[in-house]
Amino acid sequence: MGYKAKFRVWRGEGGEGRLEDFTVEVNEGEVVLDIIHRLQATQAPDLAVRWNCKAGKCGSCSMEINGKPRLGCMTRMSTFGEDETITVTPMRTFPVIKDLVTDVSFNYAKAREIPSFTPPAGVEPGEYRMQQIDVERSQEFRKCIECFMCNNVCHVIRDHEENKPAFAGPRFLMRIAELDMHPYDVVDRKDSAQEDHGLGFCNITKCCTEVCPEHIKITDNALIPMKERVVDRKYDPLVWLGNKIFKR
Ligand code: SF4
Ligand code: F3S
Ligand code: FES
Repeated sequence: MGYKAKFRVWRGEGGEGRLEDFTVEVNEGEVVLDIIHRLQATQAPDLAVRWNCKAGKCGSCSMEINGKPRLGCMTRMSTFGEDETITVTPMRTFPVIKDLVTDVSFNYAKAREIPSFTPPAGVEPGEYRMQQIDVERSQEFRKCIECFMCNNVCHVIRDHEENKPAFAGPRFLMRIAELDMHPYDVVDRKDSAQEDHGLGFCNITKCCTEVCPEHIKITDNALIPMKERVVDRKYDPLVWLGNKIFKR
């Protein structure tokens, strides 16, 4: 059975904006993105929203629904009460272009700062031999759809614009961990994870893991192991002794 829902949607551009109230029809089986589309079709033709697949796979429709980062296309209207006012706002960590569309270029800039996978010289594609456990570990991280909700929710940059230059965010610290754990990657990523990409800023609040629509265990399987790898390097007695001897 259909009903009328109360929607409160952020409208604005150029740093200015306000919440606008709508009453809008909802039908059985619909998701929040359907309602945004109905608003465009019936009441707000210039309402801007980014979307593409409507299947939880392109990562485009990230938004904040009642204050929580969610994919609009995967958030069922049946999870809200019919009397509830549903507030839809753009991701807070990135600048708003218009209405629900944010400029996520921060994330692409961070991606470009990470050296790509570098295999050893002389090993041709097809000659790599890996343990199944190494394959499975990176497969979990590669489920990422780049919705950037983990970077959006992480307090290190959500409320601290000034940290952005020094912090890659969980999505890209996870990418560094993925490459560091790869048995055929020869780039030394431990020092740069800490010094260039801000691994030390992460204090394991796990908010990133909580919002990941792919249920990737970002904190437990990527960030904490990467911190351990960095610490192992720093306090490895052999490395310590080598530094003492050779850096004199
Ligand atoms: Fe989105 Fe998860 Fe990828 Fe972060 S790790 S960008 S939350 S899919
Ligand atoms: Fe931020 Fe995730 Fe660490 S939310 S503080 S990167 S555990
Ligand atoms: Fe592709 Fe929502 S439209 S993830």
